Amino acid sequence: MTGQFATYPSLRGRQVLITGGASGIGASMVEHFVAQGSHVGFLDMDAAAAAGLLASLPEGAVAKFAQVDLRDIEALRAAIATLRGQLGGSFTVLVNNAARDDRHSIDSVTPEYWDDRMNTNLRHQFFCVQALKDEMIAAGGGSIINLSSNSFLLATGGMAVYTAAKSAVIGLSRGLARDLGRHHIRVNLLYPGWIMTQRQLDLWMTPQSEAKRAAGQCIPDRLYAPDVARMALFLAADDSRMITAREFIVDGGWF
Ligand SMILES: NC(=O)c1ccc[n+]([C@@H]2O[C@H](COP(=O)([O-])OP(=O)(O)OC[C@H]3O[C@@H](n4cnc5c(N)ncnc54)[C@H](O)[C@@H]3O)[C@@H](O)[C@H]2O)c1
Repeated sequence: MTGQFATYPSLRGRQVLITGGASGIGASMVEHFVAQGSHVGFLDMDAAAAAGLLASLPEGAVAKFAQVDLRDIEALRAAIATLRGQLGGSFTVLVNNAARDDRHSIDSVTPEYWDDRMNTNLRHQFFCVQALKDEMIAAGGGSIINLSSNSFLLATGGMAVYTAAKSAVIGLSRGLARDLGRHHIRVNLLYPGWIMTQRQLDLWMTPQSEAKRAAGQCIPDRLYAPDVARMALFLAADDSRMITAREFIVDGGWF
């Protein structure tokens, strides 16, 4: 479906950091913020995908990429500093998007795998906030958008450590929203439903899962990355200035 979508004057020139921005929903967010005239820095471990995305952006786009494995917190801090230097301003929007929904049986999970999944899906969200909060405070405010997942709402099985991490993002976000609200830094949660990224189509799409999705959603159409990216734009823009510590589910109404 095509549509007519908003332009947000407050996002023009705003400096935005997006994790996991090289592919999937994160790449769509990079494209959408760039289209608003934002100055975008993005982090990812996949340099090839990032190069492809950068090459596809329109002339005049302000976007910089730094390669990093977000499980490495020192490297994350250094990558943010690099992007800050390249873009030249303060980050006042953070989209904590990176994650991996790898499946795992209960019996296959070791303590090491548990820690690795928490580091992949949860820990970096906190450390990105820690790295950016002072410049947001100095700038008079900011917007932080933490990606969760509808999978734990639906009691989806086969990935209990992933769903544990994604539900923990709620407590993380509400706690941070309380700590940072007096500085006019907002912290909201964005839950994608089942979004048809290339990874999802390649790994998890079957006739059975597709039928279940279509039957479960109130609006049965497939969702795509821009459907989520447009909610991130709204949550980053001044239009949502008094919204914080809240959850936004973009899933076609899936119960
Ligand atoms: N696609 C969906 O259906 C869906 C559903 C619910 C929630 N989500 C959430 O939306 C967000 C984006 O998901 P997506 O489907 O676009 O995923 P994706 O796998 O398509 O893209 C994720 C990106 O993050 C990067 N990344 C992953 N781990 C990293 C690490 N350790 N260091 C650096 N980069 C890393 C990957 O390289 C990739 O570019 C995630 O938080 C995910 O949990 C997605």
